[in-house]
Amino acid sequence: MKTFSTILTTLTFFLTLSGTLTAQPDKLDQKADSVLGLMTLDEKIGQLVLYTSNWDVTGPVMPTNTMETIKSGKCGNIFNAYTAKYTRELQEIAVKGSRLGIPLLFGYDVIHGHKTIFPISLGEAASWDLAAIEKGARVAANEAAAMGLHWTFAPMVDIARDPRWGRISEGAGEDTYLGCEIAKARVRGFQGNDLADPLTVLACVKHFAAYGAAQAGRDYHTVDLSERMLREVYLPPYKAALDAGALSVMTSFNELDGVPATASHWLMTDILRNEWKFDGFVVTDYTAINELIPHGVAGNLKDAAELSIDAGVDMDMQGGAYSEHLKELVEAGNITVEQIDTAVKRVLKLKFMLGLFDDPYRYCDEKREKETVYSQANLDAAYDVACKSMVLLKNDKQVLPLQKGKSIALIGPLADSKRDLLGSWKAAGDWDQISSVYSALKKANSGGRVVYNKGCDFTGSDTSLFAAALESVRNADVVVMVLGEPWDWTGEAASRTSISIPGIQKKLLNEVSKTGKPVVLVLMNGRPLALTDEFEWSDAMLEAWYPGTMGGEAVADVLLGKYNPSGKLPVTFPRNLGQIPIFYNVKNTGRPYEKDGPEQKYRSRYLDSPNEPLFPFGYGLSYTSFEYKNLSLSTASLSPGKAIEVSVDVTNTGKFDGEEVVQLYIRDLVGSVTRPLKELKGFQKILIPKGSTKKVSFKVTAADLAFYRRDMSFGPEAGDFILYVGGDSDSANSEAFTFSE
Ligand code: NOJ
Repeated sequence: MKTFSTILTTLTFFLTLSGTLTAQPDKLDQKADSVLGLMTLDEKIGQLVLYTSNWDVTGPVMPTNTMETIKSGKCGNIFNAYTAKYTRELQEIAVKGSRLGIPLLFGYDVIHGHKTIFPISLGEAASWDLAAIEKGARVAANEAAAMGLHWTFAPMVDIARDPRWGRISEGAGEDTYLGCEIAKARVRGFQGNDLADPLTVLACVKHFAAYGAAQAGRDYHTVDLSERMLREVYLPPYKAALDAGALSVMTSFNELDGVPATASHWLMTDILRNEWKFDGFVVTDYTAINELIPHGVAGNLKDAAELSIDAGVDMDMQGGAYSEHLKELVEAGNITVEQIDTAVKRVLKLKFMLGLFDDPYRYCDEKREKETVYSQANLDAAYDVACKSMVLLKNDKQVLPLQKGKSIALIGPLADSKRDLLGSWKAAGDWDQISSVYSALKKANSGGRVVYNKGCDFTGSDTSLFAAALESVRNADVVVMVLGEPWDWTGEAASRTSISIPGIQKKLLNEVSKTGKPVVLVLMNGRPLALTDEFEWSDAMLEAWYPGTMGGEAVADVLLGKYNPSGKLPVTFPRNLGQIPIFYNVKNTGRPYEKDGPEQKYRSRYLDSPNEPLFPFGYGLSYTSFEYKNLSLSTASLSPGKAIEVSVDVTNTGKFDGEEVVQLYIRDLVGSVTRPLKELKGFQKILIPKGSTKKVSFKVTAADLAFYRRDMSFGPEAGDFILYVGGDSDSANSEAFTFSE
């Protein structure tokens, strides 16, 4: 046993070694080893334990006296604790009170903002604006880091194709390519270029793996995918986030092919470590080790802990499995000290990289906290993304933008709500001071009137408020209805079997539409909804998601034309529930149904619904209009090492300046395995002034044609391809090319 003075000397040694760690992996190893060498088994296990503060929990809290546990060195990491003051208090306990003084790591779910809340992640994804999304993550990181946090449990990169699943709101939607680009942007935003920069936070890619493919859209439910589907559709965004530098990964709750992810050696070691060379640490989701028991792969917590550590899971979130059982598992010879050391080293290395050994309090600066949180620049960034996230779904007779100064009847349970604007995972965001759509619209519609009536509750059958709402409609020039789902109908544990707006709200919309007044429907929701009736009953529809702290202002400004909507759906909106799962990059089948062909009975179709969704992936209108012309390819034959330059002229033919998301899709006509009808392979968001034309160019190379071939090797195959360029995934503007080896 080392004496305390030896420990101090060694600590001084590694403290002076700290500094530019990211670039020096050897030194990092050396430093981690120097600490490891001082630690008892209990202290080592402590670094593999993550407990929640009792501030904010999303699941059962394990009975534990956290302060004492920190002091004893048996808890090295805390989540759900923030503010510079509170984290300093806890950090002092670890640094001054524990034997080795190893600093704590503080984590939190900073998903779409910390104090200044941005649109929910699905909404941000609808902006298709990678710079804006990166900026959003950067602002979130700045605010979180200023409030004592080192680590965010984001980005959530789970591909989701089932709108029943409430957590579809937390990701980037249904598409792998878009999901990868957004995953990278978010990691860049959170982590910046240097983890030691106290304005950044460590990212945690979640939920590994395939959490978004939950059976029947029910949260935590079974996932069963072919390996081809897993590798082609679901895994790439995790990999993209890691390639962008993310250094922690969270396991998912679900099983995959019969093995819960948290016990899966194949996922956590074979793929993550051996194939992908991941060098950071893996944390479980909340009590996910304990859940191996109800999953039915462990009979007790000790076995569960053994399965997880053997799988390659480094840190136990809140479950107590590692703290209670790792020691006895080592003593019984079931697992080795080397396994523990490997995991501990990964955690220590991150603590060094974050600069915590240099200065454990570098994130606990109350002055910085005050200056950073809700700064005007942060609010401006949130406003910018909120505007960009909105998707104009319909705009008949150019009802929108509204002319200023008109008399507006504003109706609906979301029209004067503040809390709902923030959506789920609002982190530390406050809503009491923010503007509802009502207050923002009143202010923005200068010279006009805005008369607000709630009209009805979210649910129920009470129509007693209808009359007053309808009366206001009769006296107005135009009606704006703000309908949808309350904020907690999406997010974790918020799956639905219906994807409709609740009946009472629909009934009110129907009544309002019968008055003949122009009706603008603003939607707030965190999942694709089936909006077939609403499409019929309204003249204009604006998908606003849950737009965040500045969402009220953003909705008002978009309605009044201060910002011309530019968002595009990152996920398909079905016509009805029965079409689920529905996504754009489906396979053709052996009996494809041809929309315009003669009646064909034995074809892949429904008897009672078209196959097509109401709004396809990539869809979104603008107050102006765009025309695509002159799609041209520099060559129609591609070969390895070469590229096709694709160009297209996009003209703004309408009356407003506007941004368009120009999308490029490719179809591989014949493969050794069946290929999707279309796959997104590139996009660019560009501003085109009214009346002007911009040439947009893309480069297509063999890498864009790669897929998992019949033998599961990854690469392109020679053959014929079609390339589509347009404003959504339905675009028929195409050219053919070939690829030869
Ligand atoms: C459970 C959620 O699945 C996960 O996304 C989150 O990060 C943890 N709880 C911690 O709050």
